Amino acid sequence: MEPMIFSYTKSCLLSKDELASIGEKLQSEIEHIADVIENGGYETLYASVNLPIDQELHKKIMQIVAEKKKLNPSMLLVIGIGGSNLGALAVHRALFGMLYNEDTPEIKIYFVDTVDTDYIYDIILLVEQELEKGKEIILNVISKSGTTTETIANFELFLHLLHRAKKDAYHENIVVTTDEGSKLWDFAQKENFTCLSVPKKVGGRFSVFSAVGLFPLALLGVDIQLLCEGAESMVPACVEPDIFGNPAALSAALLATYYHQGIHIHDTFLFSVDLYDLGNWYRQLLAESIGKELDQDGNKVNVGITPTVSVGSADLHSVGQLYLGGPYDKFTTFVSVQKNKSNVVLPQYDTFEKLVAKIQGKPVSFIMDAIFQGVQTAYYKNKRPFISILLPEKSAYYIGQFMQFKMFEIMYLGFLLHVNPFDQPQVQLYKKETRNLLKKQTLTSDNS
Ligand code: PA5
Repeated sequence: MEPMIFSYTKSCLLSKDELASIGEKLQSEIEHIADVIENGGYETLYASVNLPIDQELHKKIMQIVAEKKKLNPSMLLVIGIGGSNLGALAVHRALFGMLYNEDTPEIKIYFVDTVDTDYIYDIILLVEQELEKGKEIILNVISKSGTTTETIANFELFLHLLHRAKKDAYHENIVVTTDEGSKLWDFAQKENFTCLSVPKKVGGRFSVFSAVGLFPLALLGVDIQLLCEGAESMVPACVEPDIFGNPAALSAALLATYYHQGIHIHDTFLFSVDLYDLGNWYRQLLAESIGKELDQDGNKVNVGITPTVSVGSADLHSVGQLYLGGPYDKFTTFVSVQKNKSNVVLPQYDTFEKLVAKIQGKPVSFIMDAIFQGVQTAYYKNKRPFISILLPEKSAYYIGQFMQFKMFEIMYLGFLLHVNPFDQPQVQLYKKETRNLLKKQTLTSDNS
């Protein structure tokens, strides 16, 4: 299959020599990751690169999927937050679209992340309706640490509903994905819930090709083999020593260089509504991996690139003015899709010709292409730096390629900016503070 097309030359404000010299700096890191791949396994923090070829994991997931499908579930709740749900959400939306649940699928999906009482209440109503009809639902509780407040609170809520509806026969409806040995793991084992483990060294935001992403996706009918084949097909290019043949290294080099020039915002501008959550998945990957108080030597540096996500063409009418007229502080990655799933064509009403000329009888994708090209030309003319990525189609294979490319990019970017891309100490900080407040019961806001 053709690879996704990565092009950086249309609006690149950096010289080839500049990029080549960053390529030199990256050589040791490229070699390092190539060794991790050669050695296989999950022993290093880079271990996520080896997930797509783990056939044993895929087999285990498919066995559990087959087992749970025997229940004939009509709904899946993915209970997890951040790295524990954004990957599955991104792939699912990219493949099945934003209106999936309205399309009366075999298994509806709801992603239960935050503890917003109104949002949770709406899902509770939906789950109750389903259970009252005697339907089966699956809870996939995902928490690497096993102690994230939001996830555990939501688990408890929905477990309670299941328990109430099914008396003691609810155990088979639950799949827990967590680190082996976490408190959640021990609890799940004791309760006889199905357990899937996450390799210890694979962090949440790098875990989409582990059971974290693969189990819910496979249950919903995503071809996880194809997703992982796509991811794997990206690996040779991502460890290519020549930076101009390595899109991940090149993209990281561009981000790092622009960052040093004061361009601190990276906008992922997706010209496909279905890819919006792929942008959100990357938003977390970039923000949490690169936004760091300390560098690798413990110096206070407060490094970070602020990720934004825009969707074409709608966001041209909200942020386009800022992007083209505002400060020169943004670098953009445009993402578009070559072959859409449908072909909607405008009718031929002559009266409409007076409103917008030359669109009568044309495919909607033709109009979108014109807008997309127009935007890129405007960016170029305004000296706004960007790269563009063309996905041949929105299939599992190409979404896998894109995600793998992005995870490599972030590892190289961490190296270039001299920060650890795999930790998230400040996220741990808020989690700790929340737990302390909950223990003391000393909330001070009006919401308490
Ligand atoms: O990427 C990360 O590591 C984080 O976003 C975590 O996924 C998130 O905080 C949820 O943590 P956990 O999976 O431990 O519940």
